[in-house]
Amino acid sequence: MSSQNIYILGIESSCDDTAASVMLNGKILSNVVASQKIHIEYGGVVPELASRAHQQNIVPVVDQALKKANIDKSQLSAIAFTRGPGLMGSLLVGTSFAKSLAYGLGIPLIDVNHMSAHILAHFIDEEGFNKPPFPFLAMTISGGHTQIVKVNHYFDMEVIGETIDDAVGEAFDKSGKILGLGYPAGPEIDKRAQIGNPKAFKFTKPKVDGLNFSFSGLKTAILYFIQKETKENPNFIEDNLNDICASIQYTIIGILIDKLKIASKQTGIKHIAIGGGVSANSGIRKALKDGEAKFGWTTYVPKFEFTTDNAAMIAIVGYLKYLEGDFAEQNVIASARLKI
Ligand code: KG4
Ligand code: ZN
Repeated sequence: MSSQNIYILGIESSCDDTAASVMLNGKILSNVVASQKIHIEYGGVVPELASRAHQQNIVPVVDQALKKANIDKSQLSAIAFTRGPGLMGSLLVGTSFAKSLAYGLGIPLIDVNHMSAHILAHFIDEEGFNKPPFPFLAMTISGGHTQIVKVNHYFDMEVIGETIDDAVGEAFDKSGKILGLGYPAGPEIDKRAQIGNPKAFKFTKPKVDGLNFSFSGLKTAILYFIQKETKENPNFIEDNLNDICASIQYTIIGILIDKLKIASKQTGIKHIAIGGGVSANSGIRKALKDGEAKFGWTTYVPKFEFTTDNAAMIAIVGYLKYLEGDFAEQNVIASARLKI
């Protein structure tokens, strides 16, 4: 490792959060996120509105990240940005901004894959949080992604399972919409699930081969179930909301844990890390902890601020790539479907 001080500015703009973070030698100095509230009234992210909001937010967010880190932009060693995957219009804002700033400052530019970053967030130096040893399994679960990745090394990863339709966060959010909950519904379903009966209602798990996931059938099953029940009792949702939430969450967690069990068995890997907004879920955290006793797993859950979309995870990848001298050219372009 180098003895010089390496300051990385990370920029994330792949979906509906404009974020910037400054890192010094793997440690976070600032981590600023502007979450776009504009999408709430639409019940989901509207891409065109997202890119416009990124344009408004990016300068103040970067400025704040530098101020909070107490450094001047002239001290930066490199700029890391999310190249993809994500919404094209949103990615373009962060990419263009990062390119111009790096060019203006005459410092290296580092392109980052958002999905790898969710995983490598586990390598941010943070007291009380252990870093997983290689190889480990990473499950990224959020509103936009659901993947199981075999991580051999920082930049040697294999996607061994992923969703064939909705992401797991969408399963929470779309179920919540059916129940009349606000967006995003995951946190409220979680809260209600903690005081409901998870076995009150049974939803069948999808049958998907191997390590892939499917969540769109569950959403349809919940819709038909609610339509049928409310025909008989118009107050069915109100009367049973906590139990319905607990039963939905129980089903979703069952699907995730079943696949993790298969992945762990197939690969012989027992170190399991999670990331993405859904890893805030109390049920998945408990199920993972239970897996430690039941299956001999060692599990890793990052600090909450590094698990939802953030720029600290972009900065840590920037730092790791900086150490390897792996820089991007000025003609690098954003890529909406970038693969790990
Ligand atoms: O990582 P994230 O902030 O953004 C991306 O989608 O990339 O994840 C947001 C997703 C939403 O679908 C939200 O409903 C879900 O994470 N979520 C939760 C919880 N907190 C956030 N889902 C279940 N339980 C939670 N406690
Ligand atoms: Zn994400």
